[in-house]
This record gives sequence, C-alpha cells and structure tokens, in this order.
Amino acid sequence: MRVRTVKEGNTEILVPVPEEGANFAPSAAPVFYNPAMELNRDISIAATSVFIKRIELDSEKVITYVDALSASGIRGLRIVNETGTHTTLNDWSEDACKLIQENIERLNLSDRAISSHKNANVLLHEKHFNIVDLDPFGTPAPFLAAAARSVINLLAVTATDTAPLCGAHLNSGIRKYAAIPFNNEYHSEMGVRILLGKIARELSLHDKTMHPLLSHATRHYVRSYLEIKKGAQKADEMLMNMGFIAHCPACGHREAIYGLAVPIKEECSNCSANNLIAGPLWLGKLHDPDFCNETIDEIMERDCGTKQVAIKMLEFCRDELDIPMFYDQHLLCKKLGVSASGIDRVIQELRNNGFLASRTHFSGTSFKTNASIRDINTIIAGIR
Ligand SMILES: C[S@@+](CC[C@H](N)C(=O)[O-])C[C@H]1O[C@@H](n2cnc3c(N)ncnc32)[C@H](O)[C@@H]1O
Ligand SMILES: [Zn+2]
Repeated sequence: MRVRTVKEGNTEILVPVPEEGANFAPSAAPVFYNPAMELNRDISIAATSVFIKRIELDSEKVITYVDALSASGIRGLRIVNETGTHTTLNDWSEDACKLIQENIERLNLSDRAISSHKNANVLLHEKHFNIVDLDPFGTPAPFLAAAARSVINLLAVTATDTAPLCGAHLNSGIRKYAAIPFNNEYHSEMGVRILLGKIARELSLHDKTMHPLLSHATRHYVRSYLEIKKGAQKADEMLMNMGFIAHCPACGHREAIYGLAVPIKEECSNCSANNLIAGPLWLGKLHDPDFCNETIDEIMERDCGTKQVAIKMLEFCRDELDIPMFYDQHLLCKKLGVSASGIDRVIQELRNNGFLASRTHFSGTSFKTNASIRDINTIIAGIR
C-alpha cells in the first residue's frame, strides 16, 4: 500500500494513496480516508475535548475513548494527540491495523494509544469505555446494541446512510431503524430524529439515558453527541421524548405526538385532509446551547482547517429553536404563489407577530417557529 502524509488539526498521519487508474472513492482504497469528513472530525475533536474536561472535573479516573471503526486512525489519533486522552483504535481490517500501528509509532503516542484488531461489536461487548465513537460506512445500526452496552459517559455517532434515514430508501430505513420516515422538505431533520429514536431505544435496554449535546446534519451524513447517564427512572423519562409526527401533505400542518402507543388523528386538524404518520422517532432536544458555546470556544482556540465553517454551523445549532421539524420558505411561497424574501425578514415578521422563530442549520431557506401553518401563510403572504 502506497501512503502519503496528511495533516488535520495539528496531527500528521499516513493515509493510503489510491491506486493509479482506480476508482477514487475513499471506500475503494485499501484503508479508508475521506478528506471531506475533516469538518466532522474538527467538530468531533473540539466537542470531545469539551466533554472530557467536564468529566475530568468529576472523576479522578483515567478517561477511556474508543474509535471503534478507525480505518487510518485519523479520528482516534487526533483525539489522543490533541487532547491527551487514552485511546483504543479498532478496525477489523489487517491493513488498517498495520497503518494505525505505524501512525501511533510515528506520532510517539504508544503510552496512550493502542491498536485493536477485532470485530467492533466483540470489543464493545468485552469492554466499557467512557467515550464510544462510531463512524461507520453507511449505517451505525449494526453497532448500536454493543455501543449502548459499552458506553459510560459519551456516545458519538455518525450515520452516512442519509437515504434510508431520510425516507429516500424507505424499506432499508424501516429495516435498520424500525421506524417510518418522511422524504419531504424536512427530511434532513427527520433523519436525525429517526437515528436518535433508535439510539434511545437501544440505551433504554441497559437502563441508560441520553441527553443530546449536539446533533448536525449535512447532505452526506448525520452526527450526534449524546451524554449518557445510568438509571431506570431516567430511561423511562427519556422515552417520554419518543413519538410520532402527523403531517398533512395538503396544507403542510404538522403535529408532534408524544408516546409510543398513542391515538393519532387520521384527519388534519387544519384542513381535514388525511395525515401521513412518521415514527417512532425522537422529539426531544437536539442540542445543549451551553455545550455548543463551549465547543465554539474550543474550536476558536484550536488548529483546525474548517474553523470558519464549523463555527458558523455550531452557532446555527446553538440558536435554532427546540421545536421538531422546520418549514421551508420556498415551498410555502410556491404554494401561495408569492415570491420568496430573505429568510431573516420572514423570521423578523414572525417575531413581530408574537411568535417564536429561528433559522435552522438544516437548511438556509428554512425556519423553525411555534406559529401555525395558517399564521405562517398569512404572514408570508403579507410580506412586501
Ligand atoms: C468509514 S471507515 C472509518 C473512518 C474513520 N473513522 C475516519 O474518521 O476516517 C469504517 C471502517 O470500519 C471498518 N469496519 C467495518 N465493519 C467493522 C466491524 N464489524 N468491526 C471492525 N471494523 C469494521 C472498516 O474496515 C473501515 O475501516
Ligand atoms: Zn391539512
């Protein structure tokens, strides 16, 4: 395997060079490395570092982190090199493990980093880690049961199977997440909430609970950081955030229905057309604003290649309203036959009319609000 060096953050590692004439997709290389995930990793290092500082205040024990699906090791190597945390870098590929070991030695990190050559599910069933990071090809679903068992304090999960999560590959999504998504204007938020719903149910098997600290979505992936606590009663309370979305395709009205066995109205309460139902999914919070702020401060102080984009996205996450499912202004304007204005203007008008309103990191043309679809339409139609 031919290798080259890349630098992310202040960590320089060896990654494979794709064979000449070969398919250039990162997944075609003998060991996976995707430069397009640098933003995901920059946020990951900062968010994990913030979290480690928090738990170190409460505990004198050594904090353990596992990068359960490591590939080149870039994520876990950055964690150990840039935060000093004791890290296990695991991959079942022999080539990956050799590369990880070489990278550990080159960086002089043998006192804090170990490579592991196992099926991730075996490792996670054998050992508990304070921090478990899952960054798989596609869906994390096959690893969630073992991760939920292993994790003590923080579970960080990436999912790149946005088509199943967001309803574009409906049956695949139903098989992996035991839930029905909508592939509509807010499909990206739907994907995050379907994933979190699945994780919440896996954690509850172990009387564990999750508190989402930060969740973000792009066209390519979903990523979430979940603080974990133990306790049957806490797990019962967490499950109260599970439920369904009833959505009217005729008028765009939507309702969040909390609970797992609850009556759901077939008719839209705004226009009486038939509702569509998505779920079960997570209706609780996606972010903790204090955590977002601390992560922004951390990124500002660190070397990272995607600093400006990362900070902007985290600010959007921090400031978005904690109300499930956003509205897309362009879609609403098309239905009303009016032209769209700047998104900030729409938000200002909603606020001027006494409603809560915010932008959302999910889409630049969208907003979140507690206004009803009737009020939203009246306000948008009235903008001159
Ligand atoms: C998307 S790559 C990881 C990327 C890496 N975390 C990064 O930030 O660049 C997924 C890795 O998981 C490994 N893998 C897939 N299934 C596995 C399993 N059951 N146990 C251990 N490793 C596995 C693959 O060999 C591959 O290297
Ligand atoms: Zn309706």
